[in-house]
Amino acid sequence: MNSFIDIKRRKFLQYAGIGTATMALAPNWLWAEASPKNNAYLFSNPDVEIGMTAQVTEIPILSGPPTEVWKFSAKLLNGPEGTVEEIPGSYLGPILRLRKGQKVRIHFHNNVPGPCVVHQHGLHVPEKSDGHPHYAIDSGQTYSYDFQVLNRAGTYWYHSHTHRVTGHRVYFGLAGLLLVSDEEERALNLPGGDYEIPLVIQDRQFGNRNELHYVHGMHDRMTGFLGDQILVNGFPDFELPVATRAYRLRILNGSNSRIYKLAWSDGTPMTVIASDGGLLEKPERYPYVTLAPAERVELWVDFSGRKVGSEIKLQSLPFSGATPRMGGGMGRGHGRGRHGHGSSALPNGAGFSIMKVRIVRKEEVNQKLPERLSTIRSHQIQEAENPDHPRTIRLSMRPHSPRLNGRSFRMTAVADEEVFKLNSLQLMEFVNRDRRARGMMMAHPMHIHGQPFQIVKREVLPGFQQDYATLSEGFISSGWRDTVLVMPGEKVTLLKPFEDYEGLFLYHCHNTEHEDLDMMRNFQVRA
Ligand code: C2O
Ligand code: CU
Ligand code: CU
Repeated sequence: MNSFIDIKRRKFLQYAGIGTATMALAPNWLWAEASPKNNAYLFSNPDVEIGMTAQVTEIPILSGPPTEVWKFSAKLLNGPEGTVEEIPGSYLGPILRLRKGQKVRIHFHNNVPGPCVVHQHGLHVPEKSDGHPHYAIDSGQTYSYDFQVLNRAGTYWYHSHTHRVTGHRVYFGLAGLLLVSDEEERALNLPGGDYEIPLVIQDRQFGNRNELHYVHGMHDRMTGFLGDQILVNGFPDFELPVATRAYRLRILNGSNSRIYKLAWSDGTPMTVIASDGGLLEKPERYPYVTLAPAERVELWVDFSGRKVGSEIKLQSLPFSGATPRMGGGMGRGHGRGRHGHGSSALPNGAGFSIMKVRIVRKEEVNQKLPERLSTIRSHQIQEAENPDHPRTIRLSMRPHSPRLNGRSFRMTAVADEEVFKLNSLQLMEFVNRDRRARGMMMAHPMHIHGQPFQIVKREVLPGFQQDYATLSEGFISSGWRDTVLVMPGEKVTLLKPFEDYEGLFLYHCHNTEHEDLDMMRNFQVRA
């Protein structure tokens, strides 16, 4: 299946099979050198060169027949060993491990039906390498993404960002982790190797032949698609065997619309060392961590002192208020749902277990949690170009159409208020207080491309506080972020720098069904 041969290309480079058990089903693949119009070359000597492809393949996920998935595969062409790390048996793309400062070139070959484009979520890269849907390439084409890693160490990710089908593509598998390290982080000697565990949490629905089920109607789109089965790194019933020592967990919520309220089953507090944009200044303790779609969190967890043979679960606790309280007319007559809440048996806000951690081995390692992790310069409102006039982005829901300031996405359209001065710091606010649509109000995980931002304050209207309180103690507002969950009745104020690159970039809701309903806009950075 899917063997790709394009005899019109002048130059071919053939690779052997990728070489893991997973890829035994995949054909050998070919990629051609990028044609001049299809590249974003910025430099002549990249430190890292990766050949990447997206293809449709089959992978066993549940017992019984394998599941058709869409998968990124990659091969390191040049650069430090360990840059590309497959997750054997997973539909997720390989983990890319990059270092700050590296010049990276990714030759992406599209071998899925229809257009595709790859976005490096959280990385600050030039427009042509950012995966704007405008730069999608057709099936059979190749495009080279060039960027220098400017970001600090952190847990980032890459995923398909194709116009109106981001939700579908990510759901079927087109996503992977992108981990950046830097000197500051390496000097901390955090648990590494087998003790550094990447965890991608996603929810899926399967049919009785193990096929993936996606959106069933407008109701699923308006609230966002929810699965009823939780997968970790692409696997159901995930179990993590650990030793009696400290671990670093790097968690991505890779779900389309599900919010997790992460907590340990025995009530141990969550020790957070990093969020979207890398390390916090010092470790912080939370009773639970709220992780919205696209957000990342890094936890320090020490299993020393626990009994070999004992277990602890990572759970998602119940919460309320993130999805509309029905009866507001949303999608009435469209939903095909089992519970009048869309097609999932597991509503957003239900409690469940995500994975089991089993203590299997004694290890006498006394690794201490560092008291200081990093230094973060926190920006002040007065430093902004617009300290008295925040750029306001109002989130609203119209029938079949969630919007930003009343507007929908148009491929290259930019409004006056969406233009930012190069090298400026902007005061911005997301406001989720659309009175015309009270019954349809819901939480929106808002994401801005480019550099990360700092949260200045979060304010919620009195009538919304009760629901808000079921999630708010898990909001991490320190450090750098690129995605923030904006709850009904809430206003989130933030400061965001727009440095280094001019160009056209995106901001949008990362509930991918909302994104695909055009709850997305461009911003333009201009000198
Ligand atoms: Cu992860 Cu524009 O998105
Ligand atoms: Cu992004
Ligand atoms: Cu949304």
